[in-house]
Amino acid sequence: MNLNYRRTRLTPILRNLTKEVVVSTEKLIQPLFVVEGLSKKEIIPGLTGVYRETTESLLTQIEGDLEKGVKSFLLFGVPAQKSDKNFSYDFTSTQISAIKKRFGSEVFLSVDVCLCSYTSHGHCGILNDSMDHVINDQTVDSLAKCALAYAQAGADCVAPSDMMDGRIRAIREILSKNKLDQTILMSYSAKFHSGFYGPFRVAADSAPKGEMKLKDRATYQIDPANPSDAYRSSLRDAEEGADILMVKPGLPYLDVIKDLSTKIPLPWAVYEVSGEYAAIELMAEQNLINRERAHLEAWTAFFRAGASMVITYGARNAREWMSKAQ
Ligand code: PBG
Repeated sequence: MNLNYRRTRLTPILRNLTKEVVVSTEKLIQPLFVVEGLSKKEIIPGLTGVYRETTESLLTQIEGDLEKGVKSFLLFGVPAQKSDKNFSYDFTSTQISAIKKRFGSEVFLSVDVCLCSYTSHGHCGILNDSMDHVINDQTVDSLAKCALAYAQAGADCVAPSDMMDGRIRAIREILSKNKLDQTILMSYSAKFHSGFYGPFRVAADSAPKGEMKLKDRATYQIDPANPSDAYRSSLRDAEEGADILMVKPGLPYLDVIKDLSTKIPLPWAVYEVSGEYAAIELMAEQNLINRERAHLEAWTAFFRAGASMVITYGARNAREWMSKAQ
């Protein structure tokens, strides 16, 4: 009997041959932030290598990313005008058209569908008069219109991250009615009420703000202690017509990725969120860990747990980091 397991670990060639999980840039999705009215691109604290882009720098950035082997993107549009209920999706739609006009089918463009960058209070939907509750169905109405506008502008994929009930059905219906049968619908189906979203909210200008009773997103995002809620919500979104489901964040929820991807036979995305990415970056800056190895190890864990694709702020550096981490 062969009890010598070190034999297959001996050389890089053997280690590569025996790898059960291979990470490649084709499996990674790069988030992009584009901010209306910005005159110069801005750094985002904690998210090294990621910027709040101007409408011009956005296109240059994508061009550079394509050269680094990244083909898939997740766009977040941040409009200048904030409102409480009547939203204009024009700014983000214009950016989508510009990207597709320039790059066509070279890029797979997903667009985040949510209202948190649009509302004056930062919640992901429309609030009632006493500002203590997000009104579900009215929000779903706006989200469906938003998704339609993005899809009509040329988005290859719309990705609702708001966590309202019934939004997948509403979006699928409105897309079908408008003959947009090829638009992919990626649901943030298992999105937890996480403490790891900090750097993102600065980037997207989307933290709940101002004087109101509803201080956080606990009444719509999933409680970290409730994996069965993540299962129910994902199952429902699959039934309502999602093409791709998602677990978010990643590393603290590996058990959920494993469990749900085994139970529901759709492609699964994992979102390595801003706080997870920043944690590695900050440790690396302090020379506490090796940046390249840590990022690759996190991505490997997502694929090992059952992900088909990973959304990560490091996608554009992945090729370089992976060659160093070998
Ligand atoms: C909300 C949204 C969030 C992220 C993407 N879309 C989080 C939130 O504010 O609840 C988080 C992404 C990240 O942290 O990287 N629409």
